[in-house]
Amino acid sequence: MRGSTYPSPVTTPVLLFDDVSVVRGSTLPVNSVSLSIEAGQRWVVIGPNGAGKSTLLHVAAAMAAPAMGTATVLGEVLGRANVAELRTRIGFAGAALLDRIPGNETVGNAVMTGAWAVYARKREDYGIADEVRRDHLLTMFGLTSLIGRTFGTLSEGERKRVMIARALMPDPELLILDEPAAGLDLAAREDLLRRLTWLADDPMAPTTIMATHHLEEIPPGATHALALRQGALVAAGPIADVLTDEVLTTAFGLPITVERVGDTRPRWFARARAW
Ligand SMILES: Nc1ncnc2c1ncn2[C@@H]1O[C@H](COP(=O)(O)OP(=O)(O)O)[C@@H](O)[C@H]1O
Ligand SMILES: [Mg+2]
Repeated sequence: MRGSTYPSPVTTPVLLFDDVSVVRGSTLPVNSVSLSIEAGQRWVVIGPNGAGKSTLLHVAAAMAAPAMGTATVLGEVLGRANVAELRTRIGFAGAALLDRIPGNETVGNAVMTGAWAVYARKREDYGIADEVRRDHLLTMFGLTSLIGRTFGTLSEGERKRVMIARALMPDPELLILDEPAAGLDLAAREDLLRRLTWLADDPMAPTTIMATHHLEEIPPGATHALALRQGALVAAGPIADVLTDEVLTTAFGLPITVERVGDTRPRWFARARAW
């Protein structure tokens, strides 16, 4: 099964978590989270290291199932759904997948193989439409001149852009990005943010959920946020209601001041209030 060509006319939430918990060893990296994400929204998941952001995204991406509660993704209940089929409707980019792309695979193929959710080009059937889409995504993520370069020779920033382009290749209904700007230098981060902002502004782009622990990495265009602390929700809702001193102070466990810079295209900054 390939991903959809057009966004499906779903009126139910894209993602619905009802009291979802995930168990790992003796911990609950996701602890009783209830959440509803509607089509077209751009969500940011914020919280300190170890708060459970990646685990939450793995459930949203149908890469992990909850031990308790009910997670419904694109209308399918995890645990009952055909997960392989569901995953073709979801684009995921994050550290969990980075080392799956062979170092000797080309950039063009690393993006193209996302259409079939495989990691190296073998004998899958690709058509002109796939090539057109690949080329469009390479342009969008500034990768056109790198089409023939091997994945193993790319910089960190280039790899991140390849992974996001690849995640978009099957035209997913839900895009999940786990710390897309982690480890990038200032110029590479700002370049990536610019491209993610274009994506956020595109009405045809999928519903997006992105995790970060740096407010500076939130693309203008993000509409909603949720803050996590030790696996539990501190707050969730419209971004300006969540990125507040009070919520972030609770999430990060120290007094934090949040600044919102710019009215129409806000960027967010945070710092400790006192040392
Ligand atoms: N397989 C595992 N076994 C034990 N603990 C785990 C496992 N995976 C994650 N954890 C724990 O779950 C918590 C949340 O991890 P994670 O979701 O990676 O957080 P984040 O992405 O916010 O940094 C951490 O305390 C981590 O140590
Ligand atoms: Mg993480």
